[in-house]
Amino acid sequence: MEKLIITGPTPLKGEVNINGAKNAAVAILPATLLINGVCTINNLPNISDVKISCEILEKLGAKITWVTPNEINIDTRNITTTKAPLDLTSKFRASYYIIGAMLGRKGEIEVGMPGGCKLGARPIDQHIKGFELLGANVTVEKGTINGKAKKLVGTNIYMDIVSVGATINIMLAAVLAEGTTIIDNAAKEPHIVDVANFLNTMGADIRGAGTDVIKINGVKELHGNSTYSVVPDQIEAGTFMLAAVATKGDLLIKNCITKHLDSITAKILEIGGNIEDYGDSIRVWCNKRPNKANIKTLPHPGFPTDLQPQMGVVLSLADGTSIINESIWESRFQYTEELNKMGAKITAQGKTAIFEGVPKLYGAPVYSTDLRAGAALIIAGTAAHGTTEVYNLEHIDRGYEHIEEKFRKIGAKIERVTE
Ligand code: UD1
Repeated sequence: MEKLIITGPTPLKGEVNINGAKNAAVAILPATLLINGVCTINNLPNISDVKISCEILEKLGAKITWVTPNEINIDTRNITTTKAPLDLTSKFRASYYIIGAMLGRKGEIEVGMPGGCKLGARPIDQHIKGFELLGANVTVEKGTINGKAKKLVGTNIYMDIVSVGATINIMLAAVLAEGTTIIDNAAKEPHIVDVANFLNTMGADIRGAGTDVIKINGVKELHGNSTYSVVPDQIEAGTFMLAAVATKGDLLIKNCITKHLDSITAKILEIGGNIEDYGDSIRVWCNKRPNKANIKTLPHPGFPTDLQPQMGVVLSLADGTSIINESIWESRFQYTEELNKMGAKITAQGKTAIFEGVPKLYGAPVYSTDLRAGAALIIAGTAAHGTTEVYNLEHIDRGYEHIEEKFRKIGAKIERVTE
C-alpha cells in the first residue's frame, strides 16, 4: 500500500506547469473510434484514467504507439469487436463514452456500467434518452449496457438536466449520423468545446460547443491524419490556485487558459487573495488568513464541483463561518470528516456544509474518499502543522500526473512511500 507523507506548514512558492485536461482526454480517446484512420494526440495527461482508456481501445482493436509519456499515435482502422472489456470499463466513469463512439462507428456496443468516484447516484438516463432519440435501441440488464442501431438519424434533443457526460456522448453518436442533431440545454464545460474541436479537426461539423445549443451536421466519415493537443486542465489549475491561497503561498501557474478559471479567480479575490492574470498563466498569492465566503457549485461557467473540496480546505482555515452548497453531487462532502480529523470544524448535512474557520490545521492520517478529495487532503497536509499521511492514492493517481513531484517542486515536504 502506498501513502503520501507530508510535513507542514509550507507556503507553496514558485512555478507549476499544468497538464492536459483529464476530462477532455478521457472523451477524446474514445472519440478516435469514430475515425477510420490514424491520428496523433498530444498534451495527454499521464494518469491512470488515460492509460485505462488506451487499454480499452486496444482491446477493441485500435493500435496505439506511445511517442512520449504525453503523446500517442492511434490507429483505429481495424476495430475488431463491439464488446468492451468489463473489468476495465468498471474502473472509471468516462468509460461511458465508448457507447456513443461505438454506436456511431459500428452501430453496436456491449459495455458494463461505468465506475468512478462515489459522489452519489450517477444515472445515465440522459445519455440513453439521446441515443434512443437518434434511433438506437439501448437496454441495461444485470449491469451491462447493450446498444444497437441500424442507422442513427439526426434529431432535436432537449436535455432534462445539464450533463457534461450526456452532452459529449450524444455529440459522439451524432457526428456520423444522417442529418442534423441539435442538443439543447447542453453543458458548456471547456472539455466539451475541446472534444468538439478535436472532432472538427478530424472532419466533423459541430457548431455551438461552449453554448447551451450544439448543432451537429452529420458527416460521412472522419479522416484522421491530424495532430491534436488536449486543452489545459481547468481543474488541475484551480487545484494549484487554491493550494497557493490555503498555504499562504505565491504560485505562477503556467500553461492554463485563465478564462476557464474566472469563477475561481472571482472567489479568490473575494476572500482576500491576489491574482495577476496573463491569459495563459496566472499568478496567485495570499499573505493573510482568507476571509469567509459562501459558495454554490454549478455547471460551467459557475464554480466547478470538482474544485469544491479544494475550496473546502481554504474555507476551513478562513476567518469566519462559510457555507458551501453542493448542487451537483449528493455525496461530495465525505472529505469533510477527514479534514475534521485535522482540526477543521465542518458540519455537513446533505448537500450543505458549514465551515467554522479555524486558524490552524494539524497533521493526521487521512483517507482520500475520491479523486478531488485526495487533492484537497494534499493541500490540507501542506497547510497543516505537523505530519499528515494521505492514504488511498489510487483515487488521486486517476486524475493528477506526478502530483507529489509537482508539490515538491514548489516547496512541499512530501514523499510517497510504500508500506
Ligand atoms: C463530469 C465529470 C466530473 C464532474 C461532473 C460535473 C468527467 C469524466 N467527469 O461527470 O468530474 O464532477 O461532470 O461537472 O467529465 N445526471 C443524471 N442523468 C444523466 C447524467 C447526469 O441525472 O444521464 C445528473 C448527475 O447525477 C449529476 C448531474 O446530472 O447530478 C451532472 O452530472 P454530469 O454532468 O453528467 O457528470 P459526469 O459527466 O458524470
